[in-house]
Amino acid sequence: MMRPDVLIVGASGFVGGALRRVYGETAAGTYCRTATPGLERLDVRDAGAVDALVDRLEPRLIIHPAAQPNVDRCETEIDESYQINVTGTVNVARAARRVGARYLYFSTDYVFNGEIGPAQVESPPDPLSVYGRHKLEAEVFIQQNLDNYVIARVCGVFGFHPQGKNFIMALLDKGRRGEPMRVPCDQWGTPTYVDNLADAVKELAELDFVGIAHPVGPDFLARTDFAHLAAEILELDPSFLRPTPTRELGQTAARPVYGGVDNRSTQALLRTRLLPARDGLLAFKRRMEQCA
Ligand SMILES: NC(=O)c1ccc[n+]([C@@H]2O[C@H](COP(=O)([O-])OP(=O)(O)OC[C@H]3O[C@@H](n4cnc5c(N)ncnc54)[C@H](OP(=O)(O)O)[C@@H]3O)[C@@H](O)[C@H]2O)c1
Repeated sequence: MMRPDVLIVGASGFVGGALRRVYGETAAGTYCRTATPGLERLDVRDAGAVDALVDRLEPRLIIHPAAQPNVDRCETEIDESYQINVTGTVNVARAARRVGARYLYFSTDYVFNGEIGPAQVESPPDPLSVYGRHKLEAEVFIQQNLDNYVIARVCGVFGFHPQGKNFIMALLDKGRRGEPMRVPCDQWGTPTYVDNLADAVKELAELDFVGIAHPVGPDFLARTDFAHLAAEILELDPSFLRPTPTRELGQTAARPVYGGVDNRSTQALLRTRLLPARDGLLAFKRRMEQCA
């Protein structure tokens, strides 16, 4: 790996892949289990390996989308979640501090209880799940121990990701096959287009800003409303969508009902326009057609 300006820890993932597209050759990146050409293997649980990589590269900026983001898995594999989402974050954050790198960490609206709708940056966290508690513990460590950081809380990220399992790819697959898809009718959030998120995060990383940011879309939508909008834009007959109350979905971890985060204080910092769901879906469709 050449000496880079930027290191993306978790570049093999969905958000990490969008960040790679934005940074191009100026960023080095890591994978853990998904071997990916051009990326170096790193397990964030291994503090020695984190230190060795960061000391060797001495990046100016470390962006950290690596996580165990499977909310239901975290609920039962609690130790694994802790090791990746807390210990792994502490390991990378400490290494960033040691080499004087700016540190940009991805967190989630699941640090909130979903009783109030889109949460403000300063709203009091109250996670409902193991995943949310662990992401919050990582946030607190960063706030208490670093002085050059951004915590980017995101929600409902969607985008083109052929190998991935994100909501929009599942919807596209089921819709094309006409297979029924159960969609929670009582979970609300702020859908965020992944390539727009990557542009916003790059801009945030370059600003003289320290603290928590919410680089998400401006629309507060029920999952079913988002699914119907997606079906319309993707020209799918929406009859495959089956609005279903969360209690009937059998999800292991509790979900915030009125989730999402409010992007207004972050939008005020940025030239990048945080895209409404419709514009994000249109961009998604264009990208899907380019990749066909
Ligand atoms: N997607 C969303 O809607 C959403 C919503 C809220 C918050 N977030 C947050 O946004 C961030 C990115 O999410 P995502 O959707 O891009 O997740 P993702 O596609 O599952 O990617 C996760 C990344 O973490 C890496 N990783 C997993 N375990 C690791 C370990 N032990 N050591 C090092 N790397 C490891 C994975 O590498 P391998 O695949 O190579 O193992 C992958 O690159 C996460 O922090 C997540 O909590 C996402």
